[in-house]
Amino acid sequence: MRKDEPMTIVVAHRGASRQAPENTMEAFRLGVEAGADAIELDVHLTADGQLAVIHDDSLGRTTDRTGSVADLTMDEVRQADAGATFVRSGDSGYAFAGSGLRVPTLPEVLAWLPDGIGLVIELKARAAADAVVETVADHPVSRDGRLAVISFDEHAIERVRELNREVKTGYLLVPSQPVEPALVWATEHGHTGVFPWEGDLGLDPLPLMAQARIYGREIGCYVVNEPERMQHLAACGVWGFVTDVPDVARQALGR
Ligand code: G3P
Ligand code: CA
Repeated sequence: MRKDEPMTIVVAHRGASRQAPENTMEAFRLGVEAGADAIELDVHLTADGQLAVIHDDSLGRTTDRTGSVADLTMDEVRQADAGATFVRSGDSGYAFAGSGLRVPTLPEVLAWLPDGIGLVIELKARAAADAVVETVADHPVSRDGRLAVISFDEHAIERVRELNREVKTGYLLVPSQPVEPALVWATEHGHTGVFPWEGDLGLDPLPLMAQARIYGREIGCYVVNEPERMQHLAACGVWGFVTDVPDVARQALGR
């Protein structure tokens, strides 16, 4: 990579999600401590219009409660133990259960986010788009260009652009979704980039990277946990990759 080319950023997927329960403040803190350049998180809208940072649309997999996030108030969501079901590799039990971890709100994450660390917000619910745009407005992470709002749902990112054209948006592609037509769509609709599953970049991502350059778009990808693949993708000039192991990524990239 030439010196004047931007470096590939390491994005901690749901925080350092191998080390701590995904999408919790502890996972985000550990992600930053491991040297991630940015944090990725998922948002849903609660029944009382708040932004809950959680991957699934229900509480069952990651907490000790059940119920649909959209049917619960944020106070009700906050009663759940967000450390209840996570087993760290090598542990025999639930090391984080009862330790006080809660489902964070997006404002809580924004209030904590250290200077210089980027944020990738994945809209899991189209209904959350308006509240996300309002919540990130005027936050330093928006002002310094380190924020991206991404979604598998085109309508969700279209809504973000409708509300605020300054917010960078990215189109997430499901595995096996062709990348080039998505690049064309993102270009036509003014989205900053596309985020395919890393396998869809193929063994040689350079032709797609060249296409992206022609279109003036960025390519990021998810989820990359193998050091050799991280090195290869960085050498090809991807904007960034999402990883469960930001510590491994920093080491692999020699930073
Ligand atoms: O950053 C993209 C990635 O997070 C998408 O997959 O299921 O982990 O939200 P998922
Ligand atoms: Ca995500």
